[in-house]
Amino acid sequence: MTRRRRATLLAAMLAIASASFAHAEPPEQLYMLNCWGCHRPHGEGIPGTAPALTDAIDFLRVKGGREYLISVPGVSQSALDNADTAEVMNWILKSFSQDRSQDRSKDRSKHRTSADFRPYTADEIANARTTHLMDIKKARAKLVAEMVEQKIRPPEK
Ligand code: HEC
Repeated sequence: MTRRRRATLLAAMLAIASASFAHAEPPEQLYMLNCWGCHRPHGEGIPGTAPALTDAIDFLRVKGGREYLISVPGVSQSALDNADTAEVMNWILKSFSQDRSQDRSKDRSKHRTSADFRPYTADEIANARTTHLMDIKKARAKLVAEMVEQKIRPPEK
């Protein structure tokens, strides 16, 4: 193969690759590529490294929690665009939040997304990217304390 042909072939391959990246990907895939490494396949998290996402929906029940969930660096600084970030967040909240009484590894059909769940929009993500939460760890601790206080979540061990 001549040098020129090789270059043309490479350019064609790159074009195909970027076209498939630009194409809307299913949220599972967005999660796998961008979040899975820290939050693990079913959102179980890595103790001491990244929190589980299986109860992330609890944050929506306390004031400031909705903003918090999309202000964490993993979300607000993700390489995804606003629409894809909103999509993967909504997917996480819908598919990982199970009834606490259920064995999560077995029955994934029973989830706790309330009927009035309002999906995140691309605009909200855009907003979260420009407003900086002062201290993520502090903000999280405050929200978790509020959830425990309101009996939304049991105290953390
Ligand atoms: C490098 C590891 C890492 C990656 C990658 C990552 N996260 Fe996170 N995530 C964290 C950590 C650590 C926290 C706890 C808050 C903090 O200190 O930033 C967190 C918190 C969260 C929270 C709030 C839940 C809670 O209990 O505090 C959500 C929601 C979240 N991440 C979603 C995502 C999504 C969606 C992606 C992919 C687009 C992602 N994360 C990628 C490490 C990561």
